[in-house]
Amino acid sequence: MFTQTGNTADAVQLRAVHKVYGKRDNQVVALDGVTTRFGRGTFTAIMGPSGSGKSTLLQCAAGLDQPTSGSVLLEDHELSEMNETELTKLRRDRIGFIFQAFNLLPVLTVRQNVTLPLRLAGRKPAKGRVTEVLEQVGLAERSKHRPAELSGGQQQRVAIARALISNPAVIFADEPTGALDTRTARDVLGLLRRAAQATGQTIVMVTHDPVAASYADRVVFLADGRLVGELHSPTPESVAERMTHLGAFADDVPLASSATFVGGQR
Ligand SMILES: Nc1ncnc2c1ncn2[C@@H]1O[C@H](COP(=O)(O)OP(=O)(O)OP(=O)(O)O)[C@@H](O)[C@H]1O
Ligand SMILES: [Mg+2]
Repeated sequence: MFTQTGNTADAVQLRAVHKVYGKRDNQVVALDGVTTRFGRGTFTAIMGPSGSGKSTLLQCAAGLDQPTSGSVLLEDHELSEMNETELTKLRRDRIGFIFQAFNLLPVLTVRQNVTLPLRLAGRKPAKGRVTEVLEQVGLAERSKHRPAELSGGQQQRVAIARALISNPAVIFADEPTGALDTRTARDVLGLLRRAAQATGQTIVMVTHDPVAASYADRVVFLADGRLVGELHSPTPESVAERMTHLGAFADDVPLASSATFVGGQR
């Protein structure tokens, strides 16, 4: 049983995390010794080429997958020392996860989708809490609608409300704006940034987009399962430039345009 929430400045710590998929002659090293920390109330973006281990890092950090070796501490709890019941409780109470595909249930209304994790855990949201989070994501008026009646951005905001409902200490988001248009993406990123600034929640977000990454306090770069760099107070320009140097994003980034606003203001 874990009883305390820890008192270090870090919400999450990874120490020499390795993750190897597959058997002996068919192995893929997805994470090759990752050591890093995510401070409480910080917003970190994780970037790197396709296959560099970003989703694997997120899954291991969130206790959804187990490292092959190394350790993950979430609010000072060593995940590998917890049994499945304890892990389930920790994930339910302390962690929110937002996926690229929103993973909403089509037959449920917005309100029902948001409260589903709590109801699955046999609990009820506190009075007024559902309305509160729906207002936070700007969807209070749509609580009785079903996902198919909403735009992509609105659906992603439902998924964010679902992650926020239990007021988790850490929110992991895997390309949360990947399927959204620029404007809607901006709304969603603003929401995540406010969650870190206003409520001290820790946000760890995977993204391919330098503009999305610039909403974070820090960007960490992964390549071939290793951390290869870090940027503080990122701007779209500094992120794009770093990615160009890493040589990883030549196809993804409009280099001509990013070069024109190097040094410019957002
Ligand atoms: N279940 C699995 N079995 C075998 N290999 C896997 C599995 N999951 C991921 N991998 C491999 O591990 C490596 C890292 O995958 P991961 O999904 O973490 O990459 P990513 O950085 O999130 O990529 P993308 O940007 O394309 O989402 C890849 O080579 C991938 O093929
Ligand atoms: Mg991925």
